[in-house]
Order: sequence, then C-alpha cells, then structure tokens
Amino acid sequence: MTQPDPAAAGGATPRHVAVIMDGNGRWARLRHWNRVRGHREGIESVRAVVRAARRAGVQVLTLYAFSSENWGRPTYEVRALMGLLRRFLRTEAPSLKEQGVRVRAIGALEQLPAEARAALAWAESETRECRDLQLVLALSYGGREEILSALRGLLRDGTDPGRLDEETFRRYLYAPDLPDPDLLIRTSGEMRVSNFLLWQIAYAEIYVTDVLWPDFREAEFERALESYARRERRFGLTTEQLKEEP
Ligand code: FPP
Repeated sequence: MTQPDPAAAGGATPRHVAVIMDGNGRWARLRHWNRVRGHREGIESVRAVVRAARRAGVQVLTLYAFSSENWGRPTYEVRALMGLLRRFLRTEAPSLKEQGVRVRAIGALEQLPAEARAALAWAESETRECRDLQLVLALSYGGREEILSALRGLLRDGTDPGRLDEETFRRYLYAPDLPDPDLLIRTSGEMRVSNFLLWQIAYAEIYVTDVLWPDFREAEFERALESYARRERRFGLTTEQLKEEP
C-alpha cells in the first residue's frame, strides 16, 4: 500500500481542509425562515472561511456544496441552490482572483444545469493562474460514485488487476493532483461522513462542531485549525517511530 507520509504529522497547518457544510436548514428554521435563507447566509460563511483558510496558509479547501443525494430535495430548493452557486461564481470570481484563489470543482459535473456549468467554467478559467489557495467545490458529488467512476476508467483502460495499486487508483479520481485532506470539518453536530471523499479521508483528522454552517465564520475556522494543531497524527505508526529521523 502507499505509505502515508509521517513527515506530514508534524505540520501545524493542514495542507488540505475539507468541509461538510451542514445546518443551513436548521439555522433558518430556528428563525422561522425558509430553508433557502439558510443557504444564502451559508454563502457568507463560504466567503469568510475562504479568507481565513488563505490567511492561515491552507493550500486546498474543499467544500461539500451539493451532494449527489441533494438532487432528491424539493425542486424549489435544488433550483435555489443552483442559482446561488451560479451567482456566487459570477460575483465572487473577480475577488477570488484578487485573493489568489483558484476555483475548481469535483463531482458528476455533467449533471449540473448548463448555466451553472457555464459559470463554473468561467470562474475556473478566470482564476486558473491563482496559486495561494485552491477552492474545490464538490458539486453533484458522491464518494461512492467517484470510486465507481475511477473503477470504470481503470476497466476501460484494461488495467492489469495484479498491478493495480493505490497510486494507480488515485490517478482515476476526480482531482488526482490534490493531496488528501488532513482535516475534515463537519458543522452542526452530526457524526457522519455522508459519502464525502470516502477514499481521500482515510487518514484525515475529524473535527465536528455543533455550530451551524451559517454561524461558522473565521473564528470557528481558526478554532478547528487550533484543534488540528494539537492532534498527534500517527498514520498507524508508534509515537517513537514518528520521532525517528527518516
Ligand atoms: C446542508 O444544510 C447544506 C447544503 C445541502 C448546501 C450547502 C450550500 C451552501 C452553503 C451554499 C452554496 C454554496 C456555494 C459554494 C455557492 P442542510 O440544508 O442539510 O441543513 P439542515 O441539516 O439543518 O437541514
């Protein structure tokens, strides 16, 4: 198997942070508002967390913005989420570019409405040269579907099962060049991974907070990073082994 890199164990700042943004509906319900207002407020948290991640020196921030299961939500909510995504990309791309943030996306992107795909392609091309932070939006994303799509690619290419190893498999994932997440954050208290980055989170540290996503701003993100910095990542090794020089 591919050996995880124990050198990464000492890093105080995670290179890659992945976030399950949950609790928009509850946030709205607490105020007797429509769920969509929760999603709209959630966009403010996206802006805040992007700023905070960039400032902290995080290199990749992956946000679970729309799961493959979310297509099953009421039509008005799906439409609203697609509209919010399109508007976010159109209005935010110039500021993201200014901040050095490159926009990317993973998921079954062909299932998105044409307008959302167009906005995504535009934001990606506008920010292509940015190097400070990669903002990866998981859209129409499902971890099992990603694994299946990798398998389909491997089979199509006639891969020899005897030679199939983790590195080869990884090359067929949606974004093989990205490092695995070091830290997985989930808001609103649920202890689930919800089909998110199933392959990639094998060694991720998990941080769950009761804070609902629309209330998760810079200070909350920094709290998660502080918690990560206190963890001892062992990747299955002993503490003594981790202290040894490579
Ligand atoms: C979960 O809350 C959140 C989502 C299904 C969508 C997340 C989307 C956003 C934050 C806005 C769009 C994002 C971008 C990047 C433009 P929920 O509705 O499941 O909350 P609940 O569990 O309280 O009902």
